[in-house]
Amino acid sequence: MVGDEHVEMIPSPAKSVWSAEVNGTPVEVLIPSNAVLLDVLRDKVGTLGVKRGCDLGTCGCCTVMIDGVPRLSCLCLAGQVDSTSITTVEGLADGAHLAPIQACFGKYGGSQCGFCTPGFLISAQALLNENNTPSDSEIACAIEGNLCRCTGYQQIIESIQGAAAIHRGEVPLPAAASDPHPDPHPEGPDEPNMPPGHAR
Ligand code: FES
Ligand code: FES
Repeated sequence: MVGDEHVEMIPSPAKSVWSAEVNGTPVEVLIPSNAVLLDVLRDKVGTLGVKRGCDLGTCGCCTVMIDGVPRLSCLCLAGQVDSTSITTVEGLADGAHLAPIQACFGKYGGSQCGFCTPGFLISAQALLNENNTPSDSEIACAIEGNLCRCTGYQQIIESIQGAAAIHRGEVPLPAAASDPHPDPHPEGPDEPNMPPGHAR
């Protein structure tokens, strides 16, 4: 019957197997030839720590390390980085132990809402891998492609300097939040002062 036939105006892109090492694990997924790396990582590989902010290359939320170099995954075709080694924020920690840069973002308040944080962590780690004595201006240069609307950046710079000191062996890694902490009120909380006339 006329009108029932579906004619594709634009032919679908060919699909092929894409392979890479993501956070140390080999992956192989079937993707269209025009697939964007950000979509592949989030939708096929499942590394949801890679954030989609602007999708335009302006916010840095989608930053991942490709063969050690930070790149914007929203501006990168997956096919261009076939057979590479990719590190997302999920690959920074050593099992249950946070990487120094992650621990320091927590300690120094480098993260507030956290949406930008995966991109900052990757950019910062890429810098620290090359330079564990960065100046503040070298840090500013390394994170210039990452936008944060919460922290004001000073805490992020302090976090990266803190992690650099750990990398240099000058200070130990901060205790993990999950480590047992001493009870700050071993005798129980102080009794509150109630206004006169209020029964407890
Ligand atoms: S989502 Fe890639 S730069 Fe914003
Ligand atoms: S911590 Fe909220 S945007 Fe950076």
